[in-house]
Amino acid sequence: MAAVLHRNLSPAGDETPRPSVVRVRGLTRRFGARAVIDNLDLDIAPGEFVALIGASGCGKSTFLRVLADLDADIEGEVAVPARRAVAFQEPRLIPWKSVWRNVVLGLPGLPNRGRAEAALAEVGLGHRAEVWPKVLSGGEAQRASLARTLVRDPDLLLLDEPFGALDALTRLNAQTLVADLWRRHGYAVLLVTHDVEEALLLADRVLVMEARGIAHELVVDLPRPRDISRERFGVLHRQLLTWLGVNLRDTAVHDGGE
Ligand SMILES: Nc1ncnc2c1ncn2[C@@H]1O[C@H](COP(=O)(O)OP(=O)(O)O)[C@@H](O)[C@H]1O
Ligand SMILES: [Mg+2]
Repeated sequence: MAAVLHRNLSPAGDETPRPSVVRVRGLTRRFGARAVIDNLDLDIAPGEFVALIGASGCGKSTFLRVLADLDADIEGEVAVPARRAVAFQEPRLIPWKSVWRNVVLGLPGLPNRGRAEAALAEVGLGHRAEVWPKVLSGGEAQRASLARTLVRDPDLLLLDEPFGALDALTRLNAQTLVADLWRRHGYAVLLVTHDVEEALLLADRVLVMEARGIAHELVVDLPRPRDISRERFGVLHRQLLTWLGVNLRDTAVHDGGE
């Protein structure tokens, strides 16, 4: 069994490290007397896909909100690119605006329909530009939410459990779409997910958050597209579950080979 790789902070032969697109130093976020995030450091490289997993309530969304600049009540240094985009578990579409107007909502200048339609076409919703959000399925609404991130032409895309409310098949399609858009646009991604398999399917690197900070990180040394039936995928999956405190003996699935 191959060893699990950890990120090498100074890879041999790489004399000119690329500047980070995200640079966090000594980040602390308190709610009252309690530090939910305590002295956290993180770098994300341009174009890197990072997944953040961890038990419910450990502070993932709190961290993402800080990176999205939705929370300034912090200590420490946080440097993020000016062009950022965020998508959440709920698509957060305004019900009284058509889908295309939702996509460009909040952008400076007049609503640019051509730009909205181009983004909608990229997520397979070119035919839904005119409709009201309420007629979209859950998967379509989430794709509209992704179109809204594309029109911002981000250097950093922040996703907080974006597929959490989707059924299994829709979720698989949405994961493939996110991987395709990432490859095409080359932005960096921070994906918060509770799904270990999803993290391994999509990310270059998986961070495991525990109370107050990032406790572990794993470089996903698997070729793309990822194949969950590969032995190495299983090795990394088990490593992440162990870090998350899942007792593998209780959850073991026997393959009938014994
Ligand atoms: N605005 C807030 N006021 C007080 N406590 C909060 C606030 N937001 C989050 N928390 C607390 O911070 C912790 C981390 O929350 P959160 O970041 O949402 O966790 P996660 O996304 O990992 O499930 C939780 O204990 C939560 O109750
Ligand atoms: Mg959360």
